[in-house]
Amino acid sequence: HGTSRINEFGHLEIGGVDTVQLAKQYGTPLFVYDMALIKQRAKQFQDAFIDEGVPYQVAYASKAFSCLAMFQLASELGLSLDVVSGGELYTAIKANVPMGRIHFHGNNKSISELEMAVEAKIGCVVVDNFYELEQLSRICLEKETKMNVLLRITPGVEAHTHDYISTGQEDSKFGFDLESGQAAEAIERALKAEKIELLGIHSHIGSQIFETTGFVMAVEKIYQYINQWRENYQYVPKVLNLGGGFGIRYTEEDAPLPVGNYIKEMIRVVKEKSAESNMDLPEIWIEPGRSLVGDAGTTLYSIGSSKELPAIRHYLSVDGGMSDNLRPALYQAKYEAVLANRAAEQTEEVYSIAGKCCESGDMLIWDLPLPKANHEDILAVFCTGAYGYSMANNYNRIPRPAVVFVEEGDAYVVIERESYADLIRLDKPLVSVVKQ
Ligand code: LLP
Repeated sequence: HGTSRINEFGHLEIGGVDTVQLAKQYGTPLFVYDMALIKQRAKQFQDAFIDEGVPYQVAYASKAFSCLAMFQLASELGLSLDVVSGGELYTAIKANVPMGRIHFHGNNKSISELEMAVEAKIGCVVVDNFYELEQLSRICLEKETKMNVLLRITPGVEAHTHDYISTGQEDSKFGFDLESGQAAEAIERALKAEKIELLGIHSHIGSQIFETTGFVMAVEKIYQYINQWRENYQYVPKVLNLGGGFGIRYTEEDAPLPVGNYIKEMIRVVKEKSAESNMDLPEIWIEPGRSLVGDAGTTLYSIGSSKELPAIRHYLSVDGGMSDNLRPALYQAKYEAVLANRAAEQTEEVYSIAGKCCESGDMLIWDLPLPKANHEDILAVFCTGAYGYSMANNYNRIPRPAVVFVEEGDAYVVIERESYADLIRLDKPLVSVVKQ
């Protein structure tokens, strides 16, 4: 997919760059991002809105993968940015992203994070709860600054997805509940707050979604309430943010729709419901993370040791694992992979790919067909662009990998490999903390 192909040496090439060369030059594990594919995905989302002539914003959910270069690329592509912490906001500020295009999410933004957002004059805060609304309103008064706000509601729609990552159902830590009247109360309070400009409503129903049904149900549910709010408070949202969650194809078990299909269906139902209620069409905002960067990312590993249990299993270990990709251990997530240096060869063995972390759960891929492999080989695991590097950690004091962007034959390091010195940068030797 994307610009991936097998070159004349039988090597996997991405963005016109030989991945075997990349592994040699930058070491492994290495994240490689296909810039052209990120651009293509962004355009697919944007075109779907443009085709329908609907005012929109596509905000990149940066939790999927963030760094200065990614933020710069996102803003060059005309994407807005969804940040969920002071750290992501700080990175966006340092990347010189236009502040007006930043949306701030989270179920427990701290006072200092809210202050940072107000001072930076970001585009909007997606308010999650009453405490936040109160604090934000107070901070805005103090700083004599107005802030645009979306209220996050839980539409009571559970997307077909893994339990840990579904957030749309009623029993969720996120957002204002619709049915119990919480959302109505939030609207009433937000409308009264002097420095709060209530732009609209936000809903996110989950992640890795393969159908449009959940989005349609969420919109239908929201409009039932919009009708009530209009009656009770003469309030009609100008913006409807329907969140992210568009699925991608990790393995052949996954069958996502083309991104345009999700958008067209969303627009169709929003148009239909607005017409029924005799309301102006709101702006439609979305915030894809995974579907913008997921399949653009590939991780290169070096194969090291192996262990064969005759007739049972053949383990191959790589030089990374749950430290750079937590998803298999956390969600039983599945991936596909090839040997980057022998990408054209027939598969003749079945291996289970183990990470190097000291626990049995650190398995990246079970039962992977590959050519006969050995410790000279480079394994390329596909679709690691979302929630791979961003959930990477230093378990076992393994340094985090480097990240390169590739395009048209060039490679750019966008995050350096962590060094051993980096690992102890914040450590204090015992002598400095214990009284002599
Ligand atoms: N908007 C909100 C409010 C979200 O909570 C999320 C993801 C997104 C947008 C972007 O969702 P996406 O388009 O990337 O599916 N670590 C998990 C995924 C957690 C998703 C959390 N929220 C994983 O690796 O599968």
